[in-house]
Amino acid sequence: MTENTPKKSVTIGGPGSNAAFPVLSGTVGPDVIDIRKLYGETGLFTYDPGFTSTAACRSKITYIDGDEGILLHRGYRIEDLAEHSSFLETAYLILFGELPTADEYSNFMSGVTYHTMIHDQINYLYRGFRRDAHPMAVMVAVVGALSAFYHEDLDTNDPHHRLIASYRLVAKIPTIAAMAYKYSVGQPFMYPRNDLSYPENFLYMMFGVPCEPWQEKPTLSKALEKIFILHADHEQNASTSTVRLVGSTGASPYAAISAGIASLWGPAHGGANEAVVNMLGEIGSVERIPEFIARAKDKDDPFRLMGFGHRVYKNYDPRAGVLKSSADEVLEELGKGDNPKLAIARELERIALEDDYFRDRKLFPNVDFYSGIILEAMGIPTKMFTAIFALARTVGWMAQWNEMMEDPEQKIGRPRQLYTGAAQRPYVAIDKRR
Ligand code: ACO
Repeated sequence: MTENTPKKSVTIGGPGSNAAFPVLSGTVGPDVIDIRKLYGETGLFTYDPGFTSTAACRSKITYIDGDEGILLHRGYRIEDLAEHSSFLETAYLILFGELPTADEYSNFMSGVTYHTMIHDQINYLYRGFRRDAHPMAVMVAVVGALSAFYHEDLDTNDPHHRLIASYRLVAKIPTIAAMAYKYSVGQPFMYPRNDLSYPENFLYMMFGVPCEPWQEKPTLSKALEKIFILHADHEQNASTSTVRLVGSTGASPYAAISAGIASLWGPAHGGANEAVVNMLGEIGSVERIPEFIARAKDKDDPFRLMGFGHRVYKNYDPRAGVLKSSADEVLEELGKGDNPKLAIARELERIALEDDYFRDRKLFPNVDFYSGIILEAMGIPTKMFTAIFALARTVGWMAQWNEMMEDPEQKIGRPRQLYTGAAQRPYVAIDKRR
């Protein structure tokens, strides 16, 4: 924002009086009306279910132009980061605002690797779950439980404590996610290997076993690195807003990230990558696509094309663009170029983008449309897709949480409501009720 220099104002009339409200400008993007004093000056609240017209905070981290299909982290295009950066470099950028120098990068990497192990006591937590528990359910619980391990000595108002919490979460989240998988298949947990890159270490913890030497998988770790970068942050989406809301009460960051994981899990949000692969499996063949397109358009049918549509993007999601070409490359390299799900996805996209229903509503493929196909081809089980999304997004959540904690305008999040229930009425004794 061009801080405190409103260039114009908007007058809003209330039951008591009219009042002028400043209009604030960001670096780019739409101006916002500063309505913080709206109720005090007019006696009115705003009504905005789903926050479709509400900016809840100032942020310098991520910018999305949904009409143009642009996504920037700290000013850098996501396409450039996906092509040239590594996940940990992008994580540094998102967390600290600038691309690191060589020294800063190396210090950051050692800081992250220093924290990759989890407290040994946490192993016992996993054993309390059923083996078929969804990894997201396990992650919600285990990440939330970290607050029981790191609570007493955590002062969320101390920048150094916040930094350690950020290192801990970014470092431990792959370990936690991989352990959820290992537990589900009944294999021993694999301790992290700090000599491996961030994505390679995750693959090792997922697919390594103690009785075999680990063969590095450069094709898979390169593909995973890109997926991690593309999911690292995405402005004030549902899960990030959840993290901010929980964090605004002064709660532990581990509890806030656990809430973010819960929010991400839903099929309208991060759970869509799993839903896309299930949907492509259900469609089964290119010939059946028109049937599913018709169902998606039918208002009496709850079916939606998963991986299609986005609250902010009214154009191609740039992350989907990167993943679409990555899908071709990765599947080719893995010798799975003839993957039937990829063929169905490509044809589904082609047909949908030519259909007036999707064109009129500006429904385009989102990040989840191609990510699941790549993950599946890599041998990642479907249930782990959203867990991988959560793993990557932890960086964004922590950056947003830190930014909120440093924001002098930060207040506990507390929306108001339009009450439509009964007006005040007298209590009726049970024998007098009808
Ligand atoms: N298939 C069919 N119709 C759709 C779809 C879809 N995937 N998405 C939206 N529409 C239609 C709606 O029915 C509605 O039509 P109408 O105007 O005739 O009533 C119109 O498009 C607008 O849809 P809304 O639900 O109002 O849009 P909203 O911004 O609230 O929802 C959302 C966005 C949740 C992403 C939605 O597009 C959706 O459910 N997509 C499928 C799930 C998905 O892929 N989620 C991942 C999002 S990306 C992420 O979170 C990482």
